[in-house]
Amino acid sequence: MGNIEVWTEKYRPKSLDDVINQRHVVDRLKAWVKQGNIPNMLFAGPAGVGKTTIALALARGLYGEHWKQNFQETNASDERGINVVRGRIKDFAKMKPLGADFKIIFLDESDSLTPEAQQALRRTIESFSGVCRFILSCNYSSRIIEPIQSRCAVFRLRGLGENDVKTYLSRIISGEKLKADTDGINAIYEISGGDLRKSTNLLQASSALGKITSKSVYEVAARAEPRDVEEMINMALGGKFKDARDKLQNLLINQGLSGEDIIREMHRQVLNLDIAEEKRLKLIEKVGEFEFRLNQGGSEDIQLVALLTHFLSIKK
Ligand SMILES: Nc1ncnc2c1ncn2[C@@H]1O[C@H](COP(=O)(O)OP(=O)(O)O)[C@@H](O)[C@H]1O
Ligand SMILES: [Mg+2]
Repeated sequence: MGNIEVWTEKYRPKSLDDVINQRHVVDRLKAWVKQGNIPNMLFAGPAGVGKTTIALALARGLYGEHWKQNFQETNASDERGINVVRGRIKDFAKMKPLGADFKIIFLDESDSLTPEAQQALRRTIESFSGVCRFILSCNYSSRIIEPIQSRCAVFRLRGLGENDVKTYLSRIISGEKLKADTDGINAIYEISGGDLRKSTNLLQASSALGKITSKSVYEVAARAEPRDVEEMINMALGGKFKDARDKLQNLLINQGLSGEDIIREMHRQVLNLDIAEEKRLKLIEKVGEFEFRLNQGGSEDIQLVALLTHFLSIKK
């Protein structure tokens, strides 16, 4: 993001003491840090509740200044497959820990692995048990095979409550000297629930409009993400119609955007598309035509799918 500081990183607690709630996990980990040893662990819970944050703070607590050399974060859902994931783990595990007896491998989204891949992972965990501890993070522990679960201390992290979220947001509000009213903060909680990543991003985006009020928060939340729309357009231009249609459904249904929000963003993006000028003019005309149809009360998904077919026929 250029030189803009991302608040989800800037305000991520560095120490276990600054982690909000999740006491049942934090207290146990602090005892283990004191002893200088930890078991393999499984962190299960929804997004944005502190799984990665806690693993990072644990590493800082155990290793101090050497934490980066002794800690590796890998995403299990790497699309290049389990062998790439295992290769990365192996390369890291082979190097000697620095000023410590073991290193930590943090494996995010472990529940995206198939049961077969998890069996392979289990063997990796075993063969490096002398020099590595594994922390697996997942949304649902039920999707992790039993032989892995039984080798881990399993921790369930809960979605954060209203007071927790407000405590966290107030750290950022005072750190950034923001102006925010109570309704604005309530709106953030209403939209993001106990997901602190989502609430922080919403706070940062709405602060760009000035004072944080429920109006500015809802305005920002209803905006289509340019990146999502760009992806959808590129899918259609690249001939991947089904993917583009799925993306559209996701924007309309899961993200709750209106057809108007989406088409407005499409309009902006078509102006900057990297295509021949005559094609661009044709698309601008089509977007305008469908914007009009939507205003006349046309069904959102039908109209937008029809508009996407025009992108498909244009190609890049
Ligand atoms: N319990 C928590 N205490 C303090 N900050 C948190 C907590 N949970 C999440 N956050 C904040 O939310 C963002 C995402 O947290 P992260 O730990 O990456 O979530 P996940 O559970 O998805 O791994 C970070 O900016 C982090 O500072
Ligand atoms: Mg995470």
